[in-house]
Amino acid sequence: MFKILRPILFAMNAETAHSIVLWLLRFVGMIPGGRWLLRKCYAVEHPSLEREVFGLRFKNPVGMAAGFDRNADVYRELSAMGFGFVEVGTVTPRPQTGNPKPRVFRLGADRAVLNRTGVANRGLERAMSRLRRAHEGVIVGCNIGKNTITPVENQAADYLKVFRNLYQYVDYFAVNVSYNTTFKEYVPRSRDSIMDILTPLFEFRRGQNQYRPILLKISPDLPDEVIDVMTDIMLDTPLDGIVATNATTSHEGLTTDVSELGRIGAGAISGAPLTARAIEVVARIYERSKGTYPIIGVGGMMTPADVQAMLNAGATLVQLYTGFVYGGPKLVRDICRALIEGEE
Ligand SMILES: Cc1cc2nc3c(=O)[nH]c(=O)nc-3n(C[C@H](O)[C@H](O)[C@H](O)COP(=O)(O)O)c2cc1C
Repeated sequence: MFKILRPILFAMNAETAHSIVLWLLRFVGMIPGGRWLLRKCYAVEHPSLEREVFGLRFKNPVGMAAGFDRNADVYRELSAMGFGFVEVGTVTPRPQTGNPKPRVFRLGADRAVLNRTGVANRGLERAMSRLRRAHEGVIVGCNIGKNTITPVENQAADYLKVFRNLYQYVDYFAVNVSYNTTFKEYVPRSRDSIMDILTPLFEFRRGQNQYRPILLKISPDLPDEVIDVMTDIMLDTPLDGIVATNATTSHEGLTTDVSELGRIGAGAISGAPLTARAIEVVARIYERSKGTYPIIGVGGMMTPADVQAMLNAGATLVQLYTGFVYGGPKLVRDICRALIEGEE
């Protein structure tokens, strides 16, 4: 099916193609038996794929990264297509339209995507209405963020608002402190600025009956010393893990001339150019934390070998986005099959 759809989708602008895929998935999900059919066609199930991480049971370690299902519309369909978990969002308190279009571009020669969406999403209310539905056993994480217009001094309230309102509807949270797709966006990177965001979340969680793991999603562009600061936060606060990494603002080594893409080609790069750096960041966190905390490895997972390298570097789970754009659901299936073979 993806084989037939791919050339049609690739003939379109990347964001239009994405909207059509979301629409198709929602449509299939509405047909009785639609998700069952997706599962039959794509999902690979095997006991050796299962993982128990921060108290949750994952049917496989391959998740959909944040940004694909921003408004929590298709997490059940993505799970039926073989993903072991889905991170929805980034969700901000209020809806925001993001940067002017076009703002997502496929860089085919680089097996990459350039995006400058600016955390476009339909806001907390809409996400909540979607996440209230039965999850049907799908593990759903929610990536949370601040509205672009919220001043930095008030950002903690934005994170808390989304966290508190969605607390009972998702399985874990990823706190996005790695915005890099909006121009001049402030990126919190000092221990104090990160703790300003995390402390209210920890406090709110302390009063709840259910425990929701909180992870920090970081940028690959942080200097190594700052990655160590993030790791130390994980080691000596109630933070449960790290999602490493978001897309990179570095355009080094690209074959595509991104200056043709308007606004001097500004935007974050995901996909193959990111693989090595994402693995390096995960390895650094793993070594410093001596493997005591879960790390979700994300960035340039384009092949089963990339995933194996990421797991070898110390990731407990992996996520992909750009790999799915180029490889479709077959990539998830190939990764799962390769992992099963590796176990045998
Ligand atoms: C079009 C697009 C939109 C994205 N939106 C978000 C987002 O809203 N929040 C976030 O944390 N990451 C977002 N990401 C980053 C991905 O979650 C992921 O960290 C990054 O793309 C690296 O993984 P990949 O190489 O497999 O794509 C986005 C990526 C792309 C390509």
